[in-house]
Amino acid sequence: MNTLAGKHLVLGLSGGIACYKAAELCRALVKAGASVQVVMTEAAEHFMTAVTLQALSGRPVYTSQWDAREANNMAHINLSREADAIVIAPASADFLAKLLHGRADDLLSLMCLARPMDAVPLLVAPAMNREMWANPATQRNVAQLKADGVQVLDVGQGDQACGETGDGRMLEAEEILEDLQSFFTPKCLTGKHVLVTAGPTYEAIDPVRGITNLSSGKMGFAIARAAQQAGAQVTLVAGPVSLATPRGVARIDVRSAREMFSAVQAQVAQAQIFIATAAVADWRPDTQADQKIKKDGSGQTPQLSFVENPDILASVAQSAAARTGALFCVGFAAESHDLQAHATAKRLRKQVPLLVGNIGPSTFGQDDNALLLVDANGARELPRASKQALAVELIAEIARRL
Ligand code: C5P
Repeated sequence: MNTLAGKHLVLGLSGGIACYKAAELCRALVKAGASVQVVMTEAAEHFMTAVTLQALSGRPVYTSQWDAREANNMAHINLSREADAIVIAPASADFLAKLLHGRADDLLSLMCLARPMDAVPLLVAPAMNREMWANPATQRNVAQLKADGVQVLDVGQGDQACGETGDGRMLEAEEILEDLQSFFTPKCLTGKHVLVTAGPTYEAIDPVRGITNLSSGKMGFAIARAAQQAGAQVTLVAGPVSLATPRGVARIDVRSAREMFSAVQAQVAQAQIFIATAAVADWRPDTQADQKIKKDGSGQTPQLSFVENPDILASVAQSAAARTGALFCVGFAAESHDLQAHATAKRLRKQVPLLVGNIGPSTFGQDDNALLLVDANGARELPRASKQALAVELIAEIARRL
């Protein structure tokens, strides 16, 4: 489920070098299924032409409150009434100050002032030099805008166009997109702490070799993102994967099953929901060589023997919190055949209220998947869709069961 699909957004640009990111944001919003009406201040037009944003949004850009295209000549009323939200990106220090004072001497500020506050939320993505951001005047303005109900997004940190380094960069387009997705997501997990395991584990044989599996972590990361967007505080214990951390999620990187188990044990007391998506290695080599095992030319192969890893899910599911219902545990099963039978048996064996089955070879590494939800009442299929869409459905399903 994509919460931006079908939404109509006014994307406002005030003056700043970050206007180049607004072009990317516009494109990403359209790709996510939103319609975008761009409004630019005169200062913004110094950084980016309206032509670029017209091409990306597929709509003529508005730059003046005297735009004669509107029959009633009231662009500020017409544009703000049809929007699901107004997003100002970049929001310059000057524009934030104008918003704060309710000034209305250009189309964008006039439209923000004229918007129906209950129906049309206003989100701003600040963008400025670090000294401008840190200035007490800006910080006062930001605090007051928040108190006035404006959603002020975070700023990024790093190298700035002026050559300085610090806080105040505008977030990247992808980050703003995630924040907007999140803003429109129903908050069914507010106040809950969710612990998720994701990805494979890596069991070392020697310092340069090990045993792992093809899990990409995409399903678990999608679940962590969906839970965070649903209002939960999320901790993600991730095996070795190369995926970006979902915004607002606390991530703990681990390598082996035993490291994953320790991280889960340290975090689980705070959680009300535990979702084990990780493809934890069932076995590990019983010894790990300190030095690389060398091929000696004799043709002889090393003799490996294995010991079983701790079953993280089964252990958590037997804790007092899980048995009394204070912790809701969800397991996953990656099978190659007879999904319902295996998932049903695994649910009973792991003693979890909900077990999610999927076919391993057709999910590992993919961006989409199909899930089979198995509980005490039977099974229900979530047909093939993107992992993010399935994650949103699964989170809603878990919230209903709490
Ligand atoms: O037994 P199997 O590995 O098929 O069980 C899969 C489920 O159990 C998944 O939820 C997985 O994350 C979890 N699991 C675990 N620790 C293990 C093995 C599996 O938490 N050692």
